[in-house]
Amino acid sequence: MLNIALPKGRLGEKVYGMFAAAGFECPALLENSRKLIFDNEKAGVRYFWVKPSDVAIYVERGAADIGVAGKDILLEYRPEVYELLDLGVGKCRMAVAAPEGFRDTPDRTLRVATKFSRIARDFYTARGRDIDIIHLNGSIEIAPILGLSDVIVDIVETGTTLRENHLEVIETIVPISARLIANKSGFKFKTEAIERLTAALDKGGKQE
Ligand code: PRP
Repeated sequence: MLNIALPKGRLGEKVYGMFAAAGFECPALLENSRKLIFDNEKAGVRYFWVKPSDVAIYVERGAADIGVAGKDILLEYRPEVYELLDLGVGKCRMAVAAPEGFRDTPDRTLRVATKFSRIARDFYTARGRDIDIIHLNGSIEIAPILGLSDVIVDIVETGTTLRENHLEVIETIVPISARLIANKSGFKFKTEAIERLTAALDKGGKQE
């Protein structure tokens, strides 16, 4: 049985469609219920719906053999997993944003609000810029409006949230998309099934 952790939500449903097209279907998964675990013995798969930011934890600790996680989570938490494939979905970017018209004063410590402290720190360390990280858990866009921070480091997809809060992207840090990840020892024991799935996704299901 291949244990697969999928991110609960719209992205997860899209990804399941790709897995089903690759021959790993489990139709019960799309039933409108509150169940979180589904299996299809015939296809040899068991799926779990988990919180998107938790997928890498399930996979790293072996509760799932494979899963789908955003590159943002992989860069921020650096889980010990194999990254097998860029699925080409869930595309967005990690960016620095600030109130419209913001000008940086390089000799002052820059206050950066973010959920992605490590990504922000790595980015500014590489430029030798002094920063003060303000770690928040959501609604990051409010921080510079209320004077809590100078800039934010956050995910930008359509740009609507920034626009509606009079913020703008100053710089893109890295493009983000959903990745297929695998547990390191699970990969050893279930190599054939995982490689078959990866190849099928790469060939057919993967979105460009
Ligand atoms: C993300 C991000 C932004 C928003 C960007 O939040 O933190 O707030 O999406 O999308 P947009 O450019 O299309 O407006 P998400 O909805 O993932 O939830 P969060 O508040 O938990 O970060």
